[in-house]
Amino acid sequence: MQFLRYINAFKRLETPFYFYDLDILDQTLRLYTKFLRKYGFKAHYAMKANANPRILEMIHRSGLGADCVSGNEVQLALDMGFDPDTIVYAGVGKSDREIRTALQGDIFCFNCESVPEIRVINDLASQMGKTARISLRLNPNIDAQTNKHITTGRSKDKFGISQWMLSEVLEVIAACGNIKLIGLHFHIGSQITDMKVFEKLCDKVNGFQRWFGQRDICLEHINLGGGIAVDYQDPLGNPFSPFETYFQTIDDKLEIRKGQKVHFEPGRALVAQCGFLISRVLYIKAGKGKQFAILDAGMNDMIRPALYGASHAICNITSVSEKQEVYDVVGPVCESADRFGVAVTMPETDRGDLVAICSAGAYGQVMSMRYNQRDLAQAYYSPDL
Ligand code: LLP
Repeated sequence: MQFLRYINAFKRLETPFYFYDLDILDQTLRLYTKFLRKYGFKAHYAMKANANPRILEMIHRSGLGADCVSGNEVQLALDMGFDPDTIVYAGVGKSDREIRTALQGDIFCFNCESVPEIRVINDLASQMGKTARISLRLNPNIDAQTNKHITTGRSKDKFGISQWMLSEVLEVIAACGNIKLIGLHFHIGSQITDMKVFEKLCDKVNGFQRWFGQRDICLEHINLGGGIAVDYQDPLGNPFSPFETYFQTIDDKLEIRKGQKVHFEPGRALVAQCGFLISRVLYIKAGKGKQFAILDAGMNDMIRPALYGASHAICNITSVSEKQEVYDVVGPVCESADRFGVAVTMPETDRGDLVAICSAGAYGQVMSMRYNQRDLAQAYYSPDL
């Protein structure tokens, strides 16, 4: 990312705003789909990471499907032209209206998370004269070794169906005339940095497959969800996640049955590094033993640091000073959690300087809100600027 190319354009814009470098997105998608094709795997982009139309359009064009977690996401995917046959829909709490939207759209698959949900989908499908294709989202009881708020595969988490429930699930499905079981689904967490976690997931999936095999059930689709981490420390030096190592690990460890298709739901790893939250420094304020750089962007624009203690690289992109200083970089919102970074080293910073918060493309703008009645940040894209 060469900020220099865009500085003059940035200076003219009202801050804060999101800036998306579509070249980075393009390169990421090319790399991801290259390895996807190499292994013959399929992928559905996790729209929750960023649902901006420009981004969705490029992802759609790159040939990926959509992974949705609400009826509105399903509808948006359909409206954006994603083939219904590439749309999957997960979530522990699908409402009747949302289920009807997905049935109406004839999506590829519901990833089902409980027995009562399967029953409701069956009833609604029967009322609409449809058959719902479902995968069972299984809870493999694995700790993904990531932030506790984004860990989803332990038995104490609300997600998925546990092993001990499986016999009942099969009985219920057998009695459901409008349900077709086509696969197994897993998603154990996000920002997973340790490949061993994915190896462990494959071991568990192999165990589940044996359990189904003993009952003469071979499912055509195995969906391993998302979770590949990005480098938040050095996003400019290391903008691409280790896609090849990831797919190689899965290919080595997963016992793929004949004719079986392996699916993924990448979110963060595709879009995090193409996005930047650009903000102006309002004030430099002296504190006790420290100084604060107060930005015009706040936790309402990007909540990850406040909510997860997430750390994003922060760069002063306009200072020409050679002197380095240390700042707590904070926002204007009336909460002490409104803080983007503690003890951040930057060139000497003044009122009016522009600051970029990096790796903001995933779970950034999409999680923004109007707390304190603040305006929502706009989005700009290269190469438009
Ligand atoms: N599939 C399912 C069913 C998911 O729930 C998620 C993310 C993904 C795929 C995509 O995972 P990814 O590849 O992005 O790791 N707001 C949090 C992240 C929440 C992730 C929720 N589920 C954050 O800012 O870190």
